[in-house]
Parts: sequence; structure tokens; C-alpha cells
Amino acid sequence: MLIFVLKTGIQLFDLEKFDLKLGTDTIGRNFIYAHEVSSTNNELLNNPEYYKTHGSVLLAEKQTSGHGRKGRNWDSNESMNLTFSILISNPKYLKQNINLINYAASLSTATSIENLYQLRTELKWPNDILVNSKKVAGILTESLSQESNISRLVVGIGLNVNQISFQGKFVIPPTSLKKELGHIADREKTLAELLNVFEENLESGLNPHNKILEEWKSRCNMLGERITVHIDETSKQGIFHDIDEKGFLVLRTDDKFETLHLGDVHII
Ligand code: BTN
Repeated sequence: MLIFVLKTGIQLFDLEKFDLKLGTDTIGRNFIYAHEVSSTNNELLNNPEYYKTHGSVLLAEKQTSGHGRKGRNWDSNESMNLTFSILISNPKYLKQNINLINYAASLSTATSIENLYQLRTELKWPNDILVNSKKVAGILTESLSQESNISRLVVGIGLNVNQISFQGKFVIPPTSLKKELGHIADREKTLAELLNVFEENLESGLNPHNKILEEWKSRCNMLGERITVHIDETSKQGIFHDIDEKGFLVLRTDDKFETLHLGDVHII
């Protein structure tokens, strides 16, 4: 593994321990460990001259402008959690439906939590990971395009590991692995397992008969329920009928089916 350490402070993440658990071929093999960045997504996405290698992972102990979907802040106490991004720049992955990469990331986060901690996870459309109906992790996938092709994409993951109190207003109440387990969770082991599972899912996504969406749906309790979808200032109600092969939500209203790309969903 190639490791770069940016802006060193005290090194709180045990790189050697992480390396021993990492079983991937490419994802995380180029690993950048930073004390502080604005946002791991911004850093990887907007500096193609520095970050070229497909599968590079940037982990930061602190983000000064960590953000989530819809421009919301992603606040995470320094050195307690996992805030990191994965660079996808190999065209073979970017040519496929990139929504699938997003689903592969949330599925991998959920699966790795279950594998390591035997906590039951639930997936909430489009990319939240819940434990006991509280949000333990969120994913923000951002990309850059050249002409009409995506040239690089970053999968940003915020996973609450050992933080136990959360300040602010939240759409879904937050939690962490430590809160749910009642004891400290291991950041190095958790990140390695997540990247191991993500690499497998990313590879399997290249196979047209992959089961990523099926597995994602099997962990989503909202399917078949009556929901409200909030999109900007408007909202729509209907039955959460399905997620189509492109990864869009299919909402059944009285007289028609609508496909939705974005929004916050709530069971009525
Ligand atoms: C969401 O739930 O809205 C998505 C949250 C994504 C947060 C992560 S933390 C690492 C990466 N860098 C960011 O600025 N955002 C993502």
C-alpha cells in the first residue's frame, strides 16, 4: 500500500493495522491520510493533477466544509469517526450506470457493519444507512464531466463510529456504532472491511446480471409503503413501488407511475 500523510498532526489512525486488514487489489491501495481538509470529496474531485490513481482513498480526521446531500453540512467530531472519499477514475466503471456505484457504496457500508458488528442495518433511499431507525452513515457521490462523459467520480462516505453526542437539527436522528454497540468500535477494521466489500461490489457491478439492486432493495423497509417524497419545495405522495434498473425510485400514484431521481422520503 502506498501511503501519503498530509499535514501531519498526531497520527490517530493506525495505518499499519488498517493495511493488515485491507484485502483489496486497487481500492485503498493508494491511501492518503490527512489531518484536516475542507472536504475529502472536494479534495479528490478537484485536484486531478495530484490524485490520479483509480481507487485512491482519502481519509481525513477533520473536515472544515464536510457536506452532504442538498448542501447540508456533515459535521463529525475530529478523529472519532470515518470521513473519507474513494476516487473512481477508471473509465470501465464510469461507462456503466453510475447510480449503481452509489447503491454499491451504501450496500457495502451496510454489509460491512453487519459482518463486523452483527448490527441489523436498513437502507433508506437514496443513500442513508440506518441502525435502529437512526442514521449511522451517509453517502454523497459527486462527479466531474468532460463533454458529456463522466471523467472522475468520488464516493464520499461519512460513518459515525465513536461519536456519542450530536448537536444540531437532523432530518433523521443520528447515531454511531459505539452508541448502538455500547462499546468503542475499531475505525481501522471498519474502514478496511468496508473497502474490501466495496471493491467486490464494484467489480460485480460490471456484470449485467449483478444483484446489487436486488440486495439493496432487500434491505430497504420502505418498499411497498405509502410515502411522501420531498423534492425542493414540493412534495409527492404515493406507494414506493420499486427502484428501476437505472436506480430511480418508482412512485405509484392513483393513476400513474412516476420515476424520481432525487428527494427525501418518509413513510406516511
Ligand atoms: C448525506 O447523508 O447527505 C451524505 C453525507 C456524506 C458525508 C461524507 S464525509 C466524507 C465526504 N466528504 C464530504 O464533504 N462529504 C462526504
